Amino acid sequence: MIVRREEPADIEGIRAVHTAAFPAPDEGQVPVEVGLVDALRASDAWVPALSLVACEPGNDQLIGHVVCTRASVAGRPALGLGPLGVLPGRQRQGVGSALMHAVLAAADALDFPVVVLLGHPGYYPRFGFRPAAELGIVPPDPSWREAFQARPLAAYTDDVQGEFAYAAPFTEL
Ligand SMILES: CC(C)(COP(=O)(O)OP(=O)(O)OC[C@H]1O[C@@H](n2cnc3c(N)ncnc32)[C@H](O)[C@@H]1OP(=O)(O)O)[C@@H](O)C(=O)NCCC(=O)NCCS
Repeated sequence: MIVRREEPADIEGIRAVHTAAFPAPDEGQVPVEVGLVDALRASDAWVPALSLVACEPGNDQLIGHVVCTRASVAGRPALGLGPLGVLPGRQRQGVGSALMHAVLAAADALDFPVVVLLGHPGYYPRFGFRPAAELGIVPPDPSWREAFQARPLAAYTDDVQGEFAYAAPFTEL
């Protein structure tokens, strides 16, 4: 498997990955994650180095995608992770893990202090995420509780605390 940065020719493949990975709100509709990625890409929150795809060597069909976009913690720069999606037929083969490790390393190399996400508490701790509340990072919605997780990076300092805000397209879902 190869993990690499998104290229212009990947946009349709990324839509296909999230269409297959996430449930649609109604029959005939596409999952909200599909429009979210497109809206993020068109926003100033987009960081091209942090939109990564997974594929097989010599095969352009994408099997997974992850993206981190600019967010904030009490007005300081941070990243929000998501969506992360893997084609259903390719799940549980390490693709999601490969994308997670790669995007966290890329975020670290760009000197962002922390990556924050809303996700399953059984999946993300293996990548160093912990409840964001332990770091004093406050979710926009208090009901998120332990699903709201944060991964400090090398540039993290413990004054990165306060209210977290995702990029605007997340709030327009
Ligand atoms: C979540 C997802 C990206 C994981 O990708 P993947 O390639 O299957 O992940 P990996 O192969 O690296 O890891 C598989 C492990 O993740 C765990 N896992 C996967 N989804 C999980 C979930 N929702 N909750 C808890 N654990 C989960 C499993 O325990 C599995 O381990 P096992 O095979 O030993 O049981 C993929 O299942 C997916 O696209 N799901 C649909 C979209 C989605 O829910 N995205 C995440 C939004 S928070």
